[in-house]
Amino acid sequence: LNHFEIPSYNMIKFEREMGNGITNPLLMRTSDDYYVVKYLGNEHGPRILVNELVCYKLARLLDIPIPDAALIKIDENALSLSPELQKLGVQPGLHFGSKLVSRAEPSIQPPLVALVKNKEDIPSIILFDQIIYNDDRTMNPGNLIVDLKNKRLLALDHSHTFRLGAIWNEIELKKIHENNLCLVKEFHGQNYKVLLKYVNGYNPFNKILQKIQKVSKEDIIWCTQQIPEEWELNNLDKDALIDFLWYRIENINKFLHLLKDQCSDWKGGVSLEI
Ligand SMILES: Nc1ncnc2c1ncn2[C@@H]1O[C@H](COP(=O)(O)OP(=O)(O)OP(=O)(O)O)[C@@H](O)[C@H]1O
Ligand SMILES: [Mg+2]
Repeated sequence: LNHFEIPSYNMIKFEREMGNGITNPLLMRTSDDYYVVKYLGNEHGPRILVNELVCYKLARLLDIPIPDAALIKIDENALSLSPELQKLGVQPGLHFGSKLVSRAEPSIQPPLVALVKNKEDIPSIILFDQIIYNDDRTMNPGNLIVDLKNKRLLALDHSHTFRLGAIWNEIELKKIHENNLCLVKEFHGQNYKVLLKYVNGYNPFNKILQKIQKVSKEDIIWCTQQIPEEWELNNLDKDALIDFLWYRIENINKFLHLLKDQCSDWKGGVSLEI
């Protein structure tokens, strides 16, 4: 699968806090474009940036629709000129930026979803959430947006993934697989309820399964590369995350069986999928 380098851009100007969301992302103008930035120094710690970066890379490998991402550099000099950023606790270094979709609708309502052009990506997003153990998209408004200009549904916000969100480590990740695999909680929450209408026909997961078949452990290792030093991911935790994701990909059939029971418009059997 296609590996690429995440670009990095300098912050030019801090515009404002996005004003919603528990991680308090910041809107910044950069040397490239406007980005919604999850910053080092946020009250949840650096792991949410790791989660965002790793999930972004995996999303791109699996062709999940997601805004482009970049590493956003804020140096000491830029910080010293901004009392607002200092007050927020922003640290110098690299941060995670998601390129701003300028006309975005965060409320996922049936008439709007009916208009998006990439409905074939809907089952993919659901299966992707099972792989990354993302409990945060079933109910939470704003973690799916519709790009109104391009009429595309996009997945965003991978801060609270790997079941434990900001607080995972090697030991806790290993514990998760001592229990049987399961679907994310609140599976029939308000967002998924709308999306599940589009998990229909005989092969709803065909698009993402074509990609998953090609994923190797090297691809998962690649997803954990290019993490900035200052995000402080140690090697034991990094290896545990690789094993966690690889285990879930290797066991994708188990997720398909679990999904089959919850997706009433999916016709035919799971065995057709593989
Ligand atoms: N690339 C983007 N383009 C347009 N809007 C965005 C983008 N990234 C984030 N947003 C908007 O900012 C909001 C907050 O971002 P995000 O969901 O990533 O942060 P959060 O603090 O983790 O949210 P929460 O924890 O409440 O789900 C989103 O719900 C979305 O409306
Ligand atoms: Mg969010």
